[in-house]
Amino acid sequence: MKKIIVKDHLEGAKEGFKIIENLLENKELNVFGLATGSTPLSLYELIRESNLDFKDVISINLDEYVGLSPDHSQSYNYFMKENLFNAKPFKASYLPDGSNDNEKEVCDEYENILKENPIDLQILGIGTNGHIGFNEPGSAFDSRTRKVELAEETIEANSRFFETKDEVPTHAYSMGIGTILEAKKIILFAYGEAKADAINKMFNEEPNTNLPASALQNHPDVTVIMDEAAASKLK
Ligand code: GLP
Repeated sequence: MKKIIVKDHLEGAKEGFKIIENLLENKELNVFGLATGSTPLSLYELIRESNLDFKDVISINLDEYVGLSPDHSQSYNYFMKENLFNAKPFKASYLPDGSNDNEKEVCDEYENILKENPIDLQILGIGTNGHIGFNEPGSAFDSRTRKVELAEETIEANSRFFETKDEVPTHAYSMGIGTILEAKKIILFAYGEAKADAINKMFNEEPNTNLPASALQNHPDVTVIMDEAAASKLK
């Protein structure tokens, strides 16, 4: 895994932007795997302000809360429209349908979309417990898109976006770790001291399911862009 350590998230976004711009110029970005959370916000802002064009690119997001309709202000569908798609339309954009409680239907359809559109570049953040997408500790490294139960730590961390903790959905549809590892190229962004433990373990522990992001050690093309705080516990 390649490490890029930057001063702050603005510098991190610039590093990520350069990679994306380059892939687009070389026509090597036909399917773009996107993430939500606060981490990619500065990257999406740079993209919105740029002249990059995604009209020939398909986007596929990692995950969505179960039980939130696409127009709910905390749904990831809504987040993506607000932060990227309204300003930069893609040829097609896919996210799991959180308002459909038929797990098999949602997940089979998503896996089919992914089979037809293999991801060239996947953007990832990381949870404080080392989750990627919503693959919480214990997720199998060969897991596929499925309905997952959120860890207490994740519900706590994400409650900042909701009025009360009780409103945070308890489940999500998420690409599996196996699904994520099929992306040709991966960039993981991590900012802030809260991520420092997970980042150290991701690099230095033997790959193990207690730290989902450690599965990335098994991927041939991962770049980790992190600020000094997130890198502060790296051994
Ligand atoms: C969320 C998302 C992840 C994200 C992570 C970190 O729950 N499912 O895709 O990477 O948690 O979030 P943040 O970037 O806000 O720290």
